[in-house]
Amino acid sequence: MPILYDSEACIFRLDAGKFSYAFCVDEHGALIHLYCGAHISDTALSYLKFPLWLSSFSPNPPGGETQPFTLDSALQEYPQNGTGDYRLAAIAIRGENGSTATSLRYRSHTIRKGKYTLPGMPAVYAADNEAETLDILMEDPLTGAEVHLLYGILEEYSAITRAAVIRNAGSAPFWIEKAASACVDFNRMDFDLVHLYGQWAQERQICRTPLSHEIRSIASKRGSSSHNHNPFAALAGKYTDETHGEAYGFSLIYSGNFAIETECDAYNSTRLVMGINPIDFEWKLAPGESFATPEAVMAFSDEGLGGMSRTFHHLYRRHLCRGEWKEKIRPILVNNWEATYFDFDEEKLCAIARDAADLGIEMLVMDDGWFGKRNDDRCSLGDWVVNEQKLKGGLASLVERINQMGLKFGIWFEPEMISPDSDLFRSHPDWVLCAPGREPSIARTQYVLDMTRSEVRDYLFDAISAILSSANIAYVKWDFNRNLTEAASAALPPERRKETFHRYVLGLYSLLERLTSAYPHILFEGCSGGGGRFDPAMLYYSPQIWTSDDTDAIERCRIQYGTSMVYPPSSISAHVSASPNHQTGRDTSFETRGNVAMAGAFGYELDLTKLTSEEKALVRKQVAQYHAYAPLVQDGDFYRLLSPFENENGCAWMSVSADQNEALVTFIVPRTRVNFTSYLRLAGLDPVKKYRVGENGPVLSGDTLMNAGLNLSQKWKDGDSLLLHLVAE
Ligand code: GLA
Repeated sequence: MPILYDSEACIFRLDAGKFSYAFCVDEHGALIHLYCGAHISDTALSYLKFPLWLSSFSPNPPGGETQPFTLDSALQEYPQNGTGDYRLAAIAIRGENGSTATSLRYRSHTIRKGKYTLPGMPAVYAADNEAETLDILMEDPLTGAEVHLLYGILEEYSAITRAAVIRNAGSAPFWIEKAASACVDFNRMDFDLVHLYGQWAQERQICRTPLSHEIRSIASKRGSSSHNHNPFAALAGKYTDETHGEAYGFSLIYSGNFAIETECDAYNSTRLVMGINPIDFEWKLAPGESFATPEAVMAFSDEGLGGMSRTFHHLYRRHLCRGEWKEKIRPILVNNWEATYFDFDEEKLCAIARDAADLGIEMLVMDDGWFGKRNDDRCSLGDWVVNEQKLKGGLASLVERINQMGLKFGIWFEPEMISPDSDLFRSHPDWVLCAPGREPSIARTQYVLDMTRSEVRDYLFDAISAILSSANIAYVKWDFNRNLTEAASAALPPERRKETFHRYVLGLYSLLERLTSAYPHILFEGCSGGGGRFDPAMLYYSPQIWTSDDTDAIERCRIQYGTSMVYPPSSISAHVSASPNHQTGRDTSFETRGNVAMAGAFGYELDLTKLTSEEKALVRKQVAQYHAYAPLVQDGDFYRLLSPFENENGCAWMSVSADQNEALVTFIVPRTRVNFTSYLRLAGLDPVKKYRVGENGPVLSGDTLMNAGLNLSQKWKDGDSLLLHLVAE
């Protein structure tokens, strides 16, 4: 039983894989946290309660004067604002009386088979026999707020999912000012905080710093999860590395404004609170209404950050990604963006497709510029009608020609946007997301559509459906190229305008749900100026995401390495582009560009008609390699071996098949040096199996490869790389 309840001691113990988690209901009805970490066997854990000191500056709850009890130092499951705990709160509800003092007490709980769902929102899913749910009901008699704390366990995975559903069971409305998805209190603070920061074309850079006595926040206020911070953080033990030590990963399944906050207090305890960013958020809940938070996923590993990542990879690939494509090997595509930018017509596309077919590439993706009168980024977003001057004969005939060459066809959309110079804007200027009375800020000559409005979503559904039904379309790239501003929907009454950011995201999810259900055969790829919305929620709708607009193989080492902290290789779209690279101007060999892209959902992003015959031969080789290695890369266990954030001269990772009979090692030398030495110790192999290293290489046992490693000390040039396939004999 993954969820145990000791009714005498009122203790809950949750066991998920190698992860145990425990808390209790105390005599005041507060939910007191007891344990979070490696698997333990006991349930009688009350002795772990954090010592509670009496101090007039840490007040006792009403009626508690005689007992040494204060919420201010207690470790808690879901701390409330304004009633004696001065640390970060998980929830703050403003009642009709104007006060945000919130006080929840345990009322009941249920343990049931199956995993809870969150209507309208992405969440981990599982068959009823694979999962269990714990549902704890807390209540605040004054406001009538009922809070369901939900815990989901898929026994195989060292991870626990969490969410809170708040219901107004009272007779007057109240306002939710903050509602976290999860809070975890630790009775220690000897952790490093690991998180992923970045910018456009430089997403998910790894940052690791020790916690100290302060409040920290990793957050987005941009209306999307953003290039700048990813909805992920890990707490890692001081000596935790990729393969050893404990790591606690926290990932939020959400695409909007989020905050992951940590606070270390004077008692050296650590609180982590994660959920919707409370800044610019408020939600009015009328009697009878419910509000659900997004889902948080906590993963525990005692095999370092690598173990934590592998738990996220498998969980997200199998229980978050959906649809026909989730476990299928993705087609090798060629995207025309960096090949032509806006300057293309049907003949140019067909010329690329002809070469693609000849080289074994499986799909042509037509990127931005096929609709309205769009020849640059200054017009036509919203006018999802084929530009027949550019694509003479229309879309159906183009797709037919491409299909006849043996290729699938994919297409680009940026549905959430509207250009001021568009027919859509001329007929519906009011559909622009903007605070009443303000001028909308403009970015890339575009405004954002008000996705909170059902008429906007209906228009988009119809316009996109008309295109998708008009031709044999196999793939959609869903882009989003700016962030939100003046986000206060005119369609909402003033007292609900702070709901806009969240309603925008719910609107986006509802449109994505409709389209992905209506077109189940289409492979959707998420995108936001590269990886500006690379988050678990988008994986629920699109099993792969364009990782970055930076296609430089050397820059991609860091970007893909950082992305792999949470996201499975099958979700990481990676393309071979031209050299010199369009973003950095760097020259990198064709082999290295292929080797780096081979670690994800593979494709090309260049003009194939301009390749030399040697390069074409290399494309053929890469296509064959992808067919041979993709199952291993997309569903294997991923190990980061050598961090480009810690080494200027080397970066390495590997994938190992579930049966440990096969592995693929990637080694890149971003910058060489004289007398270059490198001994690369592998991971994840079976110590007693013998592996042939490369086609004609030596045969070495797993323990030798993992402990002594490979000797890669040789003369490398800047940007050289190596792809080594290991097969057990
Ligand atoms: C974004 C995407 C690119 C490309 C352009 C088109 O930047 O990340 O891949 O689709 O938009 O405008």
